[in-house]
Amino acid sequence: MPIRGSITIPGDKSISHRALLIASLIEGTHVINNISTGQDVENTLKCLNNLGIRSANNDNTLSIHGGNFKIPDEQLFCGNSGTALRLLSGLLVGLNIQAKLSGDESLLNRPMDRIIKPLLSMGANIKGHNNYAPIIIKSSESLKDLEYHMPIASAQVKSALLVAGIASNKQIIIHEKYTTRDHTEILLKNIGYNIYKNDSTIILKPSNIPVKNLNFDIPGDISSAAFFIGAACMIPNSDLRINNLLLNDTRMGFIKILKKMGAGIIIHNSRYINGEKVGDIQVYYKPLYGINITAEDIPSIIDELPILSIVATQAEGMLIVSGAEELRYKESNRIESIVLNLKKMGVKAIEKKDGFIIEGPSILNKASIQSYDDHRISMAFIIAGISSGAYNDIDNIDCINSSYPEFITTLKRVIR
Ligand code: S3P
Repeated sequence: MPIRGSITIPGDKSISHRALLIASLIEGTHVINNISTGQDVENTLKCLNNLGIRSANNDNTLSIHGGNFKIPDEQLFCGNSGTALRLLSGLLVGLNIQAKLSGDESLLNRPMDRIIKPLLSMGANIKGHNNYAPIIIKSSESLKDLEYHMPIASAQVKSALLVAGIASNKQIIIHEKYTTRDHTEILLKNIGYNIYKNDSTIILKPSNIPVKNLNFDIPGDISSAAFFIGAACMIPNSDLRINNLLLNDTRMGFIKILKKMGAGIIIHNSRYINGEKVGDIQVYYKPLYGINITAEDIPSIIDELPILSIVATQAEGMLIVSGAEELRYKESNRIESIVLNLKKMGVKAIEKKDGFIIEGPSILNKASIQSYDDHRISMAFIIAGISSGAYNDIDNIDCINSSYPEFITTLKRVIR
């Protein structure tokens, strides 16, 4: 069934988390328009409220009063969100506020040594439960500047350290092996922090930030849009337009890879809002071909690999994904969840330690999909079912609410 029409997507989840955390640090009343509607961002906001930050939400426009933190009365619950837990840990270390941070079962199984280690080198008093959450932060004697060589490509780790730096007014230098999403850097630079990039090094200098009222306009989430983009480029007769979408270069991996695979994609009206590139995108069906994806491509496509695996089932030849071990540490072990479910649908898919191989084109059979309570696995396999007309049975679709509660309603509007 083709996908046709014109849609918009709620605000980007990564930018929403960052806008909330940074606004909460700056004295003043700030406005965030088009904030993500997902539970992940709601959890970050609830944690900030528990930390004494006042806010009011009116029709996706949030006003937030920054500057006055207190020790929370209860443990901070981050739900399913790694970004919430890791960035909040950086914030609390930087502010020297004691707290306990926890989350749902999936989050309790995701590695936290990646933030604990560098925050300890900064002088933090932080520990996990065998390097997993719950995380306990106690007040520390003193924090110091940090220079850190990232052992893995992770924007969450980078951002946790930058947030710790601005909350404590320390210098942070981060060396990245592969470029990861740079929303924290863009946001900070845009409001006047002394932050810049030199080759693969990010340098944040202590800065005096004037008290001011901030205004953020958050563009549509490209990672949520990816499910519609994937559907439109693989289903014959599709032609879809998505307006006001984030087009930041560090998030464009999916678009670039689809174009290499032969997809019909045109960008219209590109412009900058709050330092972020934004535009409208038109996607239409064209025949697709499998390609090779390697480690350096992975950070810019990390959240899109589940839907890319579905697109690959309709491409001629093989999609070979390597250098993607990080996928094993997401909301589920996504290498396993992708390959297992594709096989259930009758696709020739092979699991590799650091990725997967998918051979197309393939007929997709209706299957009972195991989502592992992972929002992106659920959405990807809903699209797989629709593209083949097979309508999969999926064990959990409520998990979609963590990033994109409007997904099914919007999908129903564009299926023709
Ligand atoms: C995110 C970064 C990515 C991504 C996650 C959101 C962020 O995680 O998978 O969904 O907002 O910084 P890593 O940077 O840990 O890979």
